[in-house]
Amino acid sequence: MSPLILVQGLRYQYDDGTVALNGVNFRLEAGETVALLGANGSGKTTFALHLNGLLSGEGTVEVCGLPVNPKNIVEVRRKIGLVFQDSESQLFMPTVLEDVAFGPLNHGLSPGKAAQRALAALEQVGMSAAAGKAPYHLSAGEKKRVAIAGILAVDPDILVLDEPTTFLDPPGQRALAQLLSALPQAKILITHDMPFARAMCSRAAFFRNGVIAEEGSVEQMAQRYEWDFIAPRTT
Ligand SMILES: Nc1ncnc2c1ncn2[C@@H]1O[C@H](COP(=O)(O)OP(=O)(O)O)[C@@H](O)[C@H]1O
Ligand SMILES: [Mg+2]
Repeated sequence: MSPLILVQGLRYQYDDGTVALNGVNFRLEAGETVALLGANGSGKTTFALHLNGLLSGEGTVEVCGLPVNPKNIVEVRRKIGLVFQDSESQLFMPTVLEDVAFGPLNHGLSPGKAAQRALAALEQVGMSAAAGKAPYHLSAGEKKRVAIAGILAVDPDILVLDEPTTFLDPPGQRALAQLLSALPQAKILITHDMPFARAMCSRAAFFRNGVIAEEGSVEQMAQRYEWDFIAPRTT
């Protein structure tokens, strides 16, 4: 069986000349939850943005066996859902329900079916009661849940969450971990939150200077991570 995600030799340079990714190799198998660790600026978000074609660099990116390219982009975005660090940037409709229904509508479902999917997804994240509210009135934790519902409504095989616990208080972080643990999808969690990574992930990939410098258990990589702050490496 092909892996859910296969990335080979991915390189990406921003317009200002910054080489953000410099030969990333990565695989995600079905059922895995993997942490992406690494200092700020090491390339994690840039990598995530390649997984659903928001950015496109040199090298190979395949999702569920599909090369991520303009021809496959619609299907790829049905398979993999990205939740950005700042959930607010993902919520833009007048009500929570409309926001969550946006994805399924966009993928061609009828308004009735899309609303059904949205309600089911809100139920899954424990946010049914907020369906009629304006997203900007929600707390940070609630916004995160709604953003996740928006992804779930499209029924993806893979979830990618970029620093999901950053704006949450400790109870919010625990609730998020509980919610994510109950979701069957394979997951990539970009995080600096080691207790969260330890609780959620079976392995970790460690980004340094635009490459995955090491992979291993979360514990091994967490030690590397702390060590990098004490004695940063240049390679
Ligand atoms: N829009 C952009 N334009 C130019 N450089 C960028 C842009 N976004 C990120 N970078 C640079 O790319 C590198 C990787 O950034 P990023 O992927 O955001 O890292 P991380 O998510 O690990 O903190 C950094 O050097 C960052 O400054
Ligand atoms: Mg980032």
